[in-house]
Amino acid sequence: MAEEKREQLLKALNAALGAEYGALWLLPQHMAQVEDEELKRQLKLIADVELEHAEKSAQMIYALGGEPNADLPQLKPRHGVKEILEAHVEGEREAIALWTRAIEATDDPKLKKAFEDMRRDEEGHQRLLERSLARL
Ligand SMILES: [Fe+2]
Ligand SMILES: [Fe+2]
Repeated sequence: MAEEKREQLLKALNAALGAEYGALWLLPQHMAQVEDEELKRQLKLIADVELEHAEKSAQMIYALGGEPNADLPQLKPRHGVKEILEAHVEGEREAIALWTRAIEATDDPKLKKAFEDMRRDEEGHQRLLERSLARL
């Protein structure tokens, strides 16, 4: 892989890793506030997947010979179910954009597939959160 492409991909992966950390920073704080058991369970399911994404992103960064150096987003917890759901819908939108950037940064079919799978997870999260938002 050309050096420039590798650098681009590492940047995209570190940005994605930062977004995963953002979700993992906020989700437990939001789970602690939410009283609805079903919503709490949904947020927990999403957090479990984001943790897997963070691990995969870090693995890929190492596999490319890089070091994880993501900026940890300093995100303020939201208050109230509507604000919480809106914040995560927005977070998923950003994650989808970041995985799209990673997909475009590689020609490796295996990597592309792995990024597409993670983007599909984020799309599923977004739909789940939007449905919960619509039910309020
Ligand atoms: Fe994710
Ligand atoms: Fe997600």
